[in-house]
Amino acid sequence: MAISALTFPGSHNASNLKVFILMNMTIMEGPDRVLTHPAIFGDPSLSSYERGGGYKGLRRVLSALSPADVIAEIKDSGLRGRGGSGFPTALKWEKVANHRVPVRYVVANGSEGEPGSHKDHYLISRSPHQILEGMIIACFAVSAKSAHLFIKESFPEGVKILKKAREEALAAGLLGNNILGTPFSVDIEIFVGPAAYIAGEETALLEALEGRPPPAPAETSLLPDRNGPVSQANRRQ
Ligand SMILES: Cc1cc2nc3c(=O)[nH]c(=O)nc-3n(C[C@H](O)[C@H](O)[C@H](O)COP(=O)(O)O)c2cc1C
Repeated sequence: MAISALTFPGSHNASNLKVFILMNMTIMEGPDRVLTHPAIFGDPSLSSYERGGGYKGLRRVLSALSPADVIAEIKDSGLRGRGGSGFPTALKWEKVANHRVPVRYVVANGSEGEPGSHKDHYLISRSPHQILEGMIIACFAVSAKSAHLFIKESFPEGVKILKKAREEALAAGLLGNNILGTPFSVDIEIFVGPAAYIAGEETALLEALEGRPPPAPAETSLLPDRNGPVSQANRRQ
C-alpha cells in the first residue's frame, strides 16, 4: 500500500527506530522499510493520529501545493509501493494525472493475501487515518473525485476500524465536500471484497470493485473457446 508512507517525511531518517516488536513479532527496518513511524503504535482514533502529526501533510498540500507539486515531491522522496514490486509511486500518479480522461479514481489495495504478511493489517488496525490521508493526497495529485479502499471480508475488525475512521474524517471536514474549506472534494468508499488470494492482484481487484467475481482457473479450462469449461469437459467423459 504505497500511499501509506506519505505523511511522515521524517520516517526516512536513519535514526528512527531500527527494530519494532509487535506482539510476538519482530519487524526489521532494512532497505525496504515498512511501518517505520512510531504513530503506528497509537490507537486508531483521529485524535491520536493528529496528536502524532497526522493530516498536517494534507493541510500543507491543500493550502500550498498544486497537484504537480505533490507529484514532484513524491518523486523526489523516492517513495515506492509496498504491494510487492516496489513500483515508484510518483510514476503511477503521474501517468494517471496525465491521462486524458474525464473521470479518475484512486484505488488502494488493502487485500494482503500473502501468507505471513502483516504490514497492511497493522496499518489498518493501528493507523487507519494514515491510509485515508495518503489516499486523499493521491486523489488531489491525480484530480480524482472518488476513491475506493479494498479490504477483504475475512478481516471484519479492519472493516469496522476503517469505516469508523472514514466517519471521523467526514465529521472533521477532512473528507467529503470542500475538504478543510477548500474547493477540493473527495470521498472514499470502504469496499469489502472477496478474501480470495487472487483478488489482491490489481486487475482482479478492479474486477471485484466492478462487481465481477475473482477468476477461478480450476473451474475454466485452458483455451475455453475451444475446449469449453472444465465442467463440460468432465460431462463428456
Ligand atoms: C496473485 C497476486 C496477488 C497479489 N496480492 C496482493 C495483495 O494482497 N496486496 C497488494 O498490495 N498487492 C498484491 N498484489 C500486487 C498487485 O497486483 C499490485 O501490483 C500492487 O497492489 C501495487 O501496489 P503498490 O502501488 O503499493 O506498488 C498481488 C499480485 C498478484 C500477482
